Amino acid sequence: MRQAALLTLAFILALSACAPGAGAGAPQPGAVISATPTPQAGSMPPSDSPLPPSASPSDSASAPAFVSPAEMVARMGRGVNLGNTLEAPREGDWGFKITAEHFDLIRSAGFTTVRIPIRWSAHAAETAPYTIDPAFFTRIDQVTTWALARGLIVVINIHHYEEMATTPRRHQERFLALWQQIAEHYKDAPPELLFELMNEPNGLLSAALWNETAASAIQIIRQSNPTRNLIIGGVSWNAWDQLQYLALPQDDHLIATFHYYNPFQFTHQGAEWAPGSDAWLGTTWDATPTQTAEVDAHFDAVAAWSAEHNIPIFMGEFGAYSKAPQPSRVAWTSYIARAAEQRGFAWAYWEFGAGFGIYDLAARRWRDDLLKALMP
Ligand code: BGC
Repeated sequence: MRQAALLTLAFILALSACAPGAGAGAPQPGAVISATPTPQAGSMPPSDSPLPPSASPSDSASAPAFVSPAEMVARMGRGVNLGNTLEAPREGDWGFKITAEHFDLIRSAGFTTVRIPIRWSAHAAETAPYTIDPAFFTRIDQVTTWALARGLIVVINIHHYEEMATTPRRHQERFLALWQQIAEHYKDAPPELLFELMNEPNGLLSAALWNETAASAIQIIRQSNPTRNLIIGGVSWNAWDQLQYLALPQDDHLIATFHYYNPFQFTHQGAEWAPGSDAWLGTTWDATPTQTAEVDAHFDAVAAWSAEHNIPIFMGEFGAYSKAPQPSRVAWTSYIARAAEQRGFAWAYWEFGAGFGIYDLAARRWRDDLLKALMP
């Protein structure tokens, strides 16, 4: 633990030395984000200090330079997505940009993990070697450093690489080149920075092609990050019932993920990006025996897969859109979070400050009913 804290500190200091300004890579209107190493709850540093309280130059001996997937998932606990920020075409395009204060809020509400969706594909060259814009790396350094310095565990991913769904073969080499660069860039980061290979593989990225692509990505990442925990989910937008089709390489540092938005007509009613969803407005979720039994059956299947493969679970997204009836949103959110916890899944709510938001950015306050549903 001490050694981990020291490594974290060294990483934070190294990054701050090379990350002079905020948002250097994305000074446009709008956007969001998160991340970090987590000591025990209650032992976090003051939110404006990058120094973990346990950092001591004299005690560096024993702790392993890695954290087992099971221990990591236990430590990840409850998290939130900083959605609609860095996965917009440009940070800010979808409403807001991430600030350090967002991590203060997230940490002080009791969350232990932040997942930061990132659209790397919009910030890299189109031709080999597909160089990622250094200014964008600087911005991601800044955001992850803010989160790590506050004791949050940070998940970064490749989000909204849409060509991987429409023309996956043509973009596979570029996808792998992105991971090669990201992995190399963060190879000295503390183990509390986790890589998630891809958000919601879908479309023409079939299970077979995804398995092949993911295996290559893991091999590439392992060259620079031999023991970092990697997060991977199945196709069909990380559906719970697609885990069974994952063909994973032998690797002792994998965490599996799924997203849960069932019943979709409830969670996505009125969602502008879900065609026909206005017709679902008014759909309720009342924790009836039938409704809860369905959730339990799905989660039991995930837990069984997890036990069979000895790979712990991170439910990386779940949430109900703001146009759903509020009492139902609260009931559903609470039930899903508890159902995950009962089975030992870590989770991250979708999301912090936009259309599913638990925080009202304009009013600068939490939506208390939803926050309590997540953190009773
Ligand atoms: C997508 C978001 C979407 C959410 C719920 C996420 O994976 O990135 O754009 O709002 O799922 O549909």
